[in-house]
This record gives sequence, structure tokens and C-alpha cells, in this order.
Amino acid sequence: MDFTLSEEQLMIQEAARDFAQNELLPGVIERDDAQEFPADQVKKMGELGFLGMMVDPKYGGSGLDMLSYVIVMEELSKVDASASVVVSVNNSLVCWGLETYGSEAQKQKYLTPLATGEVIGAFCLSEPEAGSDATSQQTTAIDHGNHYVLNGTKNWITNGSSAEIYLVIAQTDKEKGSKGINVLIVEKGMEGFEIGPKENKLGIRGSDTHSLNFNDVKVPKENRIGEDGFGFKFAMKTIAGGRIGIASQALGIAAGAYELAKNYAKQRKAFGTEIANHQAIAFKLADMYTHIGAARLLVYKAACDKDNGLNYDVSGAMAKLYASQVAMDTTIEAVQIHGGNGFVKDYHVERLMRDAKITQIYEGTSEIQKIVISRSLLRE
Ligand code: CAA
Repeated sequence: MDFTLSEEQLMIQEAARDFAQNELLPGVIERDDAQEFPADQVKKMGELGFLGMMVDPKYGGSGLDMLSYVIVMEELSKVDASASVVVSVNNSLVCWGLETYGSEAQKQKYLTPLATGEVIGAFCLSEPEAGSDATSQQTTAIDHGNHYVLNGTKNWITNGSSAEIYLVIAQTDKEKGSKGINVLIVEKGMEGFEIGPKENKLGIRGSDTHSLNFNDVKVPKENRIGEDGFGFKFAMKTIAGGRIGIASQALGIAAGAYELAKNYAKQRKAFGTEIANHQAIAFKLADMYTHIGAARLLVYKAACDKDNGLNYDVSGAMAKLYASQVAMDTTIEAVQIHGGNGFVKDYHVERLMRDAKITQIYEGTSEIQKIVISRSLLRE
């Protein structure tokens, strides 16, 4: 498989790299400390076309392929994973689902503002009692003829308070299990929709994560995506692509930590020479670089599977499983190479280490990825 990047992909990579250095790096430590959402940066990413990268230009998107998207995700995540998760959720979990399964009217009304970055979206599947066990939805969407009445609580919702448009998964008919679940488009401001408190997190602290409460929210029937009972399949198909986005985020976090560690090792002296000249450090760099290279191949393979219309459930799960482990391992080693300075916020690597952890948890934990992969292997 040839992963040589095209001229256009190289230009997009450079644009994302420049943006990360010029717009994300300044203030990234302060935003992490203050748990401040990168609102200005998100607005600029919308102007650059990063929020609707794969969406058809007729709906305001950039019309690019998945490979270009993961390249951008890697570059942004090297510097600021709190900003890159906004890109990932908006592109993979919100725009993709709406464009692929939404009606023409839904696309006209909701997809265009999301793809241009005029507004951002959120994907609401997880609940206090339904995280990994996603079919156990307790939120209900009861059919009242021309509208649904939505009740329940969603947890750990990325873009929780910054979003304007929410894709909410809910149970309409419990008897039918996963086939009785629907997905509804809910707008901020609908009566009975309340945004709960912000979570105080270990990592990606600039990303705003909230619980959401729905108390008798009347959602018009025309806001249901797909046929009655399509909600769980919608969620699974959407998350399968989302996992490629998170894999590329993990790859970027690892690559960012590696670059910082290499540069530090080349200038920091101990025992009369730069620490990079000590084999203990040089071998760490060799391992980091090799594992990052392997993770990149898995991420690119999953992205190309999606671009080529192949099944990407397993390749996406493999990419996320592996890249998130590499992100964890690499950032821990980057802190170690920095020694005492690694423990200090100014050197960035401790933040990358904290940010890496979530890539093993959200959009399906590593254990869920192993379920997806092993079930597929055993079906063969
Ligand atoms: N594509 C299409 N259909 C799928 C599918 C896929 N990838 N995966 C499952 N389905 C279908 C199944 O075929 C089945 O339908 P049928 O009965 O018609 O065959 C139905 O969905 C139920 O599937 P399972 O029987 O396999 O269900 P399960 O209870 O065993 O669970 C699971 C499967 C893979 C464990 C699933 O529950 C899962 O992925 N859990 C993790 C959830 C998750 O990733 N949450 C992350 C939250 S989102 C987030 O983090 C966003 C953010 O803000 C950053």
C-alpha cells in the first residue's frame, strides 16, 4: 500500500502544522490550567475548513478525503489535544453521520452551519449507567405522533456547553432492545434541555465536557435521523469512523511528545555530554520513533480503508487500540527523558501525558476495541 502523500495533502499538513504552532501553542498551558475552551482557535479552524473536512462543498465542507483529515488531526494533536478533539467530534461524529444518513432538509438546516464552523456539534451516547455497554440506554424518546418526548441524562459529552446542535441517542421501544433506539437532532435552547456542570478532568482540560439533562424535551419527528429504530446502528457506524479520528489524535500526542523529547535530549547535558549521546536515552528515542511509525501506518491504513469504501470497523479499532497505547508509552518516556523538567508544566510533556490517557477511554475503551476486533476475527 502506497502512503506517499499528494502535493495537496502535503500542503494541508503544512497548513495544520503552521496553525498549531502559531495559533494553538500560544496559551495552551494557560488554557489547560484554567480549563478554558479554545473558542477563538475553534472559530479560526472553522475558517480554515478543518471542522467539515470531508463534507461535500455543496454543504459548506472542504470535500477532502479521510487521509487528509487524519494528517490534520495528527498535526493539531501534537500541540493541543483539547482543540483537536473538537475537530474530531465535529467531523467524525456529527458531520459524517448527518451527511451519510440525514435527510436533505436536515443537511440544509444543520450540516451547513456545522461544516463551516459557524456552530459546533456534540454526540450524545454515553450515560451514567451506559458507557461501554452502549445498548443499555436509559434515556427515552417516546413517540407522540408528530414529535418525541425526550427524558434522561447523558454523561461526559464533549463540546457539552459549546455546541449548538446535539445528536442524542435514546430508547423509544425497550422491548426491541438495540433495534428500538433512535437518534434525534436536539438544538440548544429547546425547552427542558439543560446543560449540567462541567467535568474537572485529568487531561484535555480545555475541552468542555458536561453532563446533559433532558426533561420532557419535545423534539419534532423530522429531527429523527434515518428510519425508526436506526439509532444504535447509526451510533455504531458513526463511532467506527470516530475511532480513526481518535487514533490520529493519539498518534499526534505521541509524535508531539517524541519531538519535544528528542530536542531536549540533544541540548540537555549530563556527565559531560548531551543526554542523547547516552545509549539509555538514544534507545528510548529509537523505540518511540519505531512505535509511532507503526501507529501511523495503522492510522493511515484505516483512513484509506474508509476512503476506498472498505470496511473500517476492525482497522479503525486496531489503529485506536495501538495508537492510544503508543501515546501513553511515548508520553511517559518523554517525561522521563525530561527528568525533573518533565514534571514541570512549562515543558509541555506532562500535559501530553495527561492528555494521552483519554485516548484509551473515549469513543470505546481499549477493551471495547478488543471486543470489536476479536468478535470479527472469530466470525471469520
Ligand atoms: N456497524 C453496524 N452495526 C453494528 C456495528 C457496526 N460497527 N456494531 C454493532 N452493530 C449492530 C449489531 O450488528 C447488532 O445489530 P443486529 O442485532 O441487527 O445484529 C446491534 O448493533 C447490537 O450490537 P451487539 O449485539 O454487538 O451489541 P453489544 O451490546 O454486544 O455491544 C459494543 C457492542 C461493540 C460493545 C458496543 O456497545 C460499543 O461499541 N460500546 C462502546 C461504546 C462507545 O464507544 N462509547 C463511546 C462514547 S462516544 C464518545 O466518547 C464521544 C466523545 O464525546 C469523544
